[in-house]
Amino acid sequence: MKPSVYLTRKLPDQLMEQLAQQVELTFYDEADQPVPRAELLRGVEGVDGIFCLLTDKIDGEVLDRAGKQLKVISNLAVGYDNIDAAEAKKRGIFVTNTPGVLTETTADLTFALLMATARRIVEAEDNLRRGGWKTWSPMQLTGLDIYGATLGLIGMGRIGEAVAKRAKGFDMNVIYYNRNRKPEAEQQFGCQYKSKDEVVQEADFLVVLTPLTPETQGILGARELNMMKKTAILIKTARGSVVDEEALYEALKERKIWAAGVDVFAKEPIDPNHPLLSLDNAVLLPHIGSASIDTRTKMCQMAIRNVVAGVTGQTPPNCV
Ligand code: NAP
Ligand code: GLV
Repeated sequence: MKPSVYLTRKLPDQLMEQLAQQVELTFYDEADQPVPRAELLRGVEGVDGIFCLLTDKIDGEVLDRAGKQLKVISNLAVGYDNIDAAEAKKRGIFVTNTPGVLTETTADLTFALLMATARRIVEAEDNLRRGGWKTWSPMQLTGLDIYGATLGLIGMGRIGEAVAKRAKGFDMNVIYYNRNRKPEAEQQFGCQYKSKDEVVQEADFLVVLTPLTPETQGILGARELNMMKKTAILIKTARGSVVDEEALYEALKERKIWAAGVDVFAKEPIDPNHPLLSLDNAVLLPHIGSASIDTRTKMCQMAIRNVVAGVTGQTPPNCV
């Protein structure tokens, strides 16, 4: 008998077939809807593996319902703050993620947000579509320069480094703060290690790329936002709660900082009345950092390899 896997969201047909060939597959069959909690709790009962998304909270209750035979939880994301990994570890259950394969694509999106906010791309296009383009005028829709500016990174991991690499191509000066100093990255990208406060104060573009953990929750709050340059731009492609969202709204509304580019939010999807939606100095995206066809396909394949390895008694290649 094949080992069993519960999948919380349908994948493209070819990937479903690939997975179903290797395991006894059950899945939540609602088109692009997160699995309701009650359904998740029912679905995981007695399975050997769980294949989940970042939208699914996998905690002790889910592990209890799954039962003692559960061997692996495979997350379709590099971030795994949706999973109680400590609890899984206590029970000897592997937790896996999808590192590396999405690094360049997410760095591209981070840089796209940086450029869109600096050069007011969304606002300018909207202005044109709404008939606001009457003439060329000297200071119309003027933004900020990217070349030569200082990029401050909070979190110099895989994606942080890939953003630093892009910044180098734009002749930016790169400074960073990370839990551990990264001498190789300093050499490779000519970047300089500084304290968190120095990075916050000196950056023209402040990009946060740490995972969400108890230590990084609110790593940028009102205090830090008040320390930023008035002309600085904040880019957030890490998890929503690494920046205090209310403080960010206040800083943008009061023009304490120039703009923000945000791909991720504390609670997703955001409410149609979310305060950030009322601001013209914020570019807001629906968590699409890794969303290229190629990368999402590779992430699915990686998560499949992880779950199959786990349920067949092997150590999965990407344990967190
Ligand atoms: P990574 O390689 O693990 O890099 C994370 C970096 O953050 C590491 O260098 C780590 O430092 C640093 N860090 C951790 N805790 C810290 C702290 N308390 N203070 C300072 N630095 C700290 O991860 P990654 O692949 O670059 O991904 C980073 C995050 O981006 C993910 O966890 C995920 O939340 C987010 N993400 C978002 C999207 C999207 O669609 N928007 C896509 C992919 C990823 P050490 O070197 O000391 O470990
Ligand atoms: C996406 O947000 C990821 O963590 O992969």
